[in-house]
Amino acid sequence: MIRTKPFTLAAIGAFGFAALVASGTLATAAPSASATISARQANFKKIGGAMKTLKDELGGSADKVKMLTAAKTIAAVGRAQVKLFPAGTGPSAGVKTDALAAIWTDRATFDGHMTKFIAEADKLVAAAGQGNAQAVGAQFKAMGATCGACHRQFRADD
Ligand code: HEC
Repeated sequence: MIRTKPFTLAAIGAFGFAALVASGTLATAAPSASATISARQANFKKIGGAMKTLKDELGGSADKVKMLTAAKTIAAVGRAQVKLFPAGTGPSAGVKTDALAAIWTDRATFDGHMTKFIAEADKLVAAAGQGNAQAVGAQFKAMGATCGACHRQFRADD
């Protein structure tokens, strides 16, 4: 143990130094680009998870509280996405992203998809709040169509 200790400390020191150099380099390149890309991808995962909850509930017990919570998550997280596509976070950022460059060359269309998606998500919250499973199901489909419409145009195929 005692003999390996200095080596371990040296290793930590080297790692710390490497991290310092890396962050120094990234400061000029794109630290916030990679953080922003990770944040929006994590948000889309959350949205996808809430979609799954809704689908399961609609095909099962249609629990009002669960459906409302999931719908609210989609609407809230969806709103957060609006700010997570700043210039410089596209394919040229040097970070893995499925966001297509078209987002920044056809911004108005992209923003239109985002606005429509949020409006449909709000309607989903309203339907879930009324606890009418049939209305939730119909609105779930309407909102799902807005996901697909944006993906077809602005997201790279995996
Ligand atoms: C306005 C456009 C737009 C809308 C609306 C949209 N998405 Fe996306 N989505 C994207 C883009 C662009 C990416 C790629 C993000 C990246 O990799 O940086 C993405 C990525 C994703 C991912 C993958 C995240 C990952 O990297 O793991 C999932 C899951 C996803 N979207 C689900 C949804 C669902 C579900 C909806 C609707 C409820 C939705 N999206 C609505 C544009 C959109």
